[in-house]
Amino acid sequence: MTTTVALIGAAGHGAWHLRALDALGDRVRLVATCDVQPGYDYTDHRTMLAERRPEVVIVCTPPHTHLPIALDVLDAGCDLLLEKPPVLNLADHRTLAGAARGRVLQVNFQALGSPTMPMLAERVGAVHSASVAGAWWRPDEYWRRSSWSGRRGLDGALVNPFAHALMQALAITGLRPPWTFSLDRYRTRPDVEVEDTATLRLTGPDGRGVFVAVTLCSGEFVPGDITVTGSAGTVEVGYAQDRLDGEVVPGRIGLLENLLDHREHDAPLLAPLARTEPFVALAEAILAAPDPVLLDPARLARREDGPEIPGAAALVRRAAAERAHFREIGAFQ
Ligand SMILES: NC(=O)c1ccc[n+]([C@@H]2O[C@H](COP(=O)([O-])OP(=O)(O)OC[C@H]3O[C@@H](n4cnc5c(N)ncnc54)[C@H](O)[C@@H]3O)[C@@H](O)[C@H]2O)c1
Repeated sequence: MTTTVALIGAAGHGAWHLRALDALGDRVRLVATCDVQPGYDYTDHRTMLAERRPEVVIVCTPPHTHLPIALDVLDAGCDLLLEKPPVLNLADHRTLAGAARGRVLQVNFQALGSPTMPMLAERVGAVHSASVAGAWWRPDEYWRRSSWSGRRGLDGALVNPFAHALMQALAITGLRPPWTFSLDRYRTRPDVEVEDTATLRLTGPDGRGVFVAVTLCSGEFVPGDITVTGSAGTVEVGYAQDRLDGEVVPGRIGLLENLLDHREHDAPLLAPLARTEPFVALAEAILAAPDPVLLDPARLARREDGPEIPGAAALVRRAAAERAHFREIGAFQ
């Protein structure tokens, strides 16, 4: 069976989807690409939907454009693979959920297709906490890549590059609101409004918790693995490469492939919109929080392509191990 697919937002991360479509061979037929930039079949997605009538549409445009485009796609009767974050607040999430009734909607939090997920209960028992430590390097150029990059209310280390870590930690713990939320966040560039360095702590009423310590200003790389602790033990989950305690688990399921399996023989969706609701609740809270603290340049090492926080990897590791905010361990004081 061949399913017709169209891609809206083809020039940026859309290239990743074009490769994923290629890998699916004749299970899919790409019938149109659309981008407001020139060089694609269409610049207007509504014209494309009306003329090409694809069965499935991938939306890979900037996050704040997802809702209106997704509503048009669903209204045209198509199923939808929507990039993460699906939307940026719960009101929009509800609107989208209402519009998606009777259609298939999967959100491209691709790590939810990890084969490590169903193995966790057996490894650690009932999960009570997940703690993320990630220290990456993103140069100045990263913050200039798109019009929404570094913009308050739209971007940030937590809701964008580390979004998969957050979504995975929420899915692993099953934590959802109501929770106690606390945040400690920093930025290193005066012209970037959002955090590049942060700790986040969520605690549920039953004591279950998620802790996240991340930076994009580290000379040393820490991948963003998740330490998962449960009633029967602890395991290190490398969500990007499907590692459990360092060992790769084969069998990652692509979320477009899973969407096709769902359409064809009712396979359960791995990342349906409903599963992303806690992430969206969290993103809304993060995006509405007070602005991050601008770090004193005297604390930073200036690299050619951006400011580095000396010792950032050690700080992140310590914060994640102690589940303590940077301010609680005396960092940046
Ligand atoms: N799943 C992942 O790992 C992953 C990785 C990177 C980005 N993303 C997500 O993918 C999406 C796109 O990210 P990006 O970095 O490519 O952003 P981007 O700013 O480069 O935008 C992507 C493309 O959308 C086009 N576009 C904007 N408005 C449009 C419209 N109305 N109609 C058609 N095209 C339009 C832009 O011209 C651009 O080519 C975002 O939601 C982002 O969060 C996901």
